[in-house]
Amino acid sequence: MRLLISSFQKLLSHSRFMLTIRSQGGIYRGLILFRLSPNLEETLDAKAKLLAAHKQLYIMESACPHLGADMSHADIEEHEDGVVAVCPWHRYDFDLKTGANEMGLHACTYPVHVETDDADGIDKVYMEPPALDSEWTLVELRPVSEEFADPPPTCAKENIEATAPISMHPVEDEPIVPVDNAPNTLMEWAVLILNTPNPLLKVERTRHAVQMFRTGQLKSIGNKKLFNPPQPPDVPRRDALYVKNSVDPTRMRTKKSKAFMLHALANIEQWAIDLAWDIMARFGPMHPDLPPAFFSDFAKMALDESKHFSLLTARLAAISPSTPYGSMPVHASLWESASITSTSLRARLAIIHLVHEARGLDVNPQTIERFRKAGDSDSVNVMEIVHADEVTHVTTGHRWFTWMCEKDGGLDPITTFREEVRQSWRGDIKGPFNAEARKTAGLSPGFYENLRGEMDTYEMESSPAKVQIGYD
Ligand code: FES
Repeated sequence: MRLLISSFQKLLSHSRFMLTIRSQGGIYRGLILFRLSPNLEETLDAKAKLLAAHKQLYIMESACPHLGADMSHADIEEHEDGVVAVCPWHRYDFDLKTGANEMGLHACTYPVHVETDDADGIDKVYMEPPALDSEWTLVELRPVSEEFADPPPTCAKENIEATAPISMHPVEDEPIVPVDNAPNTLMEWAVLILNTPNPLLKVERTRHAVQMFRTGQLKSIGNKKLFNPPQPPDVPRRDALYVKNSVDPTRMRTKKSKAFMLHALANIEQWAIDLAWDIMARFGPMHPDLPPAFFSDFAKMALDESKHFSLLTARLAAISPSTPYGSMPVHASLWESASITSTSLRARLAIIHLVHEARGLDVNPQTIERFRKAGDSDSVNVMEIVHADEVTHVTTGHRWFTWMCEKDGGLDPITTFREEVRQSWRGDIKGPFNAEARKTAGLSPGFYENLRGEMDTYEMESSPAKVQIGYD
């Protein structure tokens, strides 16, 4: 079997892409596609240049086979006898064609082909997926980051991502990296960020920590530390400036105003940043067998959520300077679900990522439509970025939920998910459902149709006390 990845043209925007593929049997693979800059002679004609460029594509697994570092920021070195990716953590190198390493380690690499489609004349890129399963689907293809963009940027949305300003109160006294007790592990960064009340500093620290982790400046996840792992707070701290609402909710003319929507969405994204760090800090030490790919996935999620928060608050500032972030009522209902699921990773993945985030996939298209009808194309662009990212977050939830089911004795993911929802959710799982986006993320209708949470009827004695979160 071969799997269509993309048109070749689409890969010209960046030199590195993250790919996620899923087999029919629910096996996931996280991969990196490298597109090397072709060293082309001036004399080559266009066709020859294209042919040469086709030879510059390589796909390998995204986790280093040594200790699992994220290879998205590997250095690429060209030697006489081939091209190698050098891992950012301990500098082992892997041949991009064969996966071979001089120390005897081996990275999985996958053959890539480029063919011109006779039907439409478009050059298309295919890969040969793992032989483990016969049917594979591409569930995600996204540039690693703007760092690897080929100038000039090719689309307006990427410009938005790269340059979105954050018009909020700067943090004057607190540096991104604390002067005393600077974090040394990903777990320590997670707890520091959860305890960072200012949203702007939370975003900056998230960017910094993920960049350090990806580039090998932070070499330890820190979840295997047996004694005194850093403890996440019950509820992430919040800066009073952003929860002291200056707009009286009873005076707001319409709750459907664009500013109100953007403010409410930004608030959800701020909680979502914390949720991504909390799942790592809370459950990493509880499950020392979690592979590094778990942390890479949730670090990426934290980075995405911080990008969404910045984009939404920037839009809010642009369309309604008199109601900046923090001036309107906010709620903390997402964290109520986090506290209910604080002792079970399976329940956390089910409720936060496969119920709450999956619901986002249903409602985002309506929100986008509202902005479109209001003629606000910049907000439409922002929400389309948010929606595309959130499909990948539900995919991440599905990936690690099925991983947990397998680890817990080969449980059936659908039956297990439905049971988790019955125990930790109140009321119906509401539609209408965006079945297509849910399917892309791995959720077939069997997961969510005709499902009702019966949390009230379950004895909650075993659950942690509910955490009071006092603003709305
Ligand atoms: S060389 Fe990659 S994790 Fe050690």
